[in-house]
Amino acid sequence: MNKAGTKDNLRWYKIEEKLPEGDFVMQVQVGGKKRCLLRHEGQLHLIQNYCPHAGAVLSGGWCKDKMIICPVHRYAYHLDDGRGAEGQGDYIELYAVRETSDGIYAGFKQSLFSRLFGKSYF
Ligand code: FES
Repeated sequence: MNKAGTKDNLRWYKIEEKLPEGDFVMQVQVGGKKRCLLRHEGQLHLIQNYCPHAGAVLSGGWCKDKMIICPVHRYAYHLDDGRGAEGQGDYIELYAVRETSDGIYAGFKQSLFSRLFGKSYF
């Protein structure tokens, strides 16, 4: 078992930021990078923080109908699989996130290099 209470090949990092009650969209620093953490309809999601369309910050956006909406040109991305809305032809990265009794953890796949040498480069 690892810190997040799971058995898997992910490396887990605790998210230290204090989270608002209810649904939210916010930027967090985790695993050395900025990501977008959100709660939509009671479910936590961790996604990349830049929009693949033109690089806007997704944590400045909002959620609607199980999608994150980019604040700049309003492209939309499904929170369940990262696919862009119909006609966009793009996608966002989704990351594992778990809520445990001692906090919220983000899980990232480790590269072969980091598995061999114990460094975290992902
Ligand atoms: S930068 Fe996000 S939709 Fe254009």
